[in-house]
Amino acid sequence: MVPVGIVGANGFLGGELVRLLAQHPHARVAALCAGRSAGQQLSDIRPSLRGPADGPLEAFDADLLASRCEAVFLALPHGKSAEAARELRARGVLVIDLGSDFRIADPAAHARWYGREPGAPELLDSAVYSLPELTGPPPADAGLIANPGCFATALALTLAPLAPALGEGTEVTVFGVTGSSGSGIEPQAGTQHTLRVNSFTAYKPLRHQHLGEVEQLLARRGAVPRVRFVPHSLPAPRGIHLTVVLDAATVGDVRARYEAAYGEAALVDVVDGVVPMGAVLLSCRTLLGVEPRGDDVVVTCALDNLLKGGSGQAIQNLNLVRGWSETAGLPVVGSWP
Ligand SMILES: NC(=O)c1ccc[n+]([C@@H]2O[C@H](COP(=O)([O-])OP(=O)(O)OC[C@H]3O[C@@H](n4cnc5c(N)ncnc54)[C@H](OP(=O)(O)O)[C@@H]3O)[C@@H](O)[C@H]2O)c1
Repeated sequence: MVPVGIVGANGFLGGELVRLLAQHPHARVAALCAGRSAGQQLSDIRPSLRGPADGPLEAFDADLLASRCEAVFLALPHGKSAEAARELRARGVLVIDLGSDFRIADPAAHARWYGREPGAPELLDSAVYSLPELTGPPPADAGLIANPGCFATALALTLAPLAPALGEGTEVTVFGVTGSSGSGIEPQAGTQHTLRVNSFTAYKPLRHQHLGEVEQLLARRGAVPRVRFVPHSLPAPRGIHLTVVLDAATVGDVRARYEAAYGEAALVDVVDGVVPMGAVLLSCRTLLGVEPRGDDVVVTCALDNLLKGGSGQAIQNLNLVRGWSETAGLPVVGSWP
């Protein structure tokens, strides 16, 4: 069993990593690190994680992690991964970063989307942005893997196979919703239950930071349509759902394009009609639905932000870089209701 560490283990993504790795056939949790919660027992903070992978939370210590772990997942707030990754890479540890510090390769683009310079610019060239269904498996010698963002995963899986038909600069408007866990464990006005549960609102219209990595991925493949993305805050804890209406004459046979892209993919399914978000919750699957309607085609996409949009995809990346089965330790069947 390969020993792995989780930094940010009591956070939402860290918790999902603990849960999934507890049942992984080839990896075992060898270190759990946190920030302010260091010193506490993980299950005292997250009672659902009581069990085989439960343990005391330790402060981040690169020497300690390098002595115990072959790979470390960083599930830290934006801006916090850079120094941790620098220290771990200096010790030869494989780093899989679930945050956004290494997703955008161009420092100027990073600063534009995140409002600050990248924390470890010298590592950007070696970081492998890995959304396996579109970028292929990360190379076996990768030392730093940048795991995509949750909305970015849904946007890229939906748009990348259609981008060549849409063409450079064509405007595509995408309506998206996300559950409140997308904003992390720290309570905020936008995620507090009392304010969110009886409401519904758009946020960051046309300026969500995940557009930066989507543009980068599309540009590496060819044409970049102009993505007008309007995310909304769903009054539910988890899940992402996108809806796009496309001109049939422009995009052609959407189902055939998706089949060509994802026919062999273990974690992306293409179906006729629209897809309900509930069907993917607690699974690492992405569902893409295609519904032609007259001159238009309605495309919907659903995934679980904490799994295919986060921790599940990070484990998928570990599986691929180590040459294990792509879906080892990953739930492929959801739970609904
Ligand atoms: N939530 C999602 O759906 C999602 C999906 C994809 C990507 N992401 C990205 O993944 C990252 C983690 O997201 P999340 O939602 O899991 O965040 P979160 O729930 O807020 O958890 C953040 C974790 O980081 C820990 N931490 C903060 N400073 C630390 C330090 N200096 N040393 C060690 N640990 C420290 C916190 O521990 P303490 O509480 O002990 O301070 C906490 O465990 C973020 O960058 C986010 O943007 C999130």
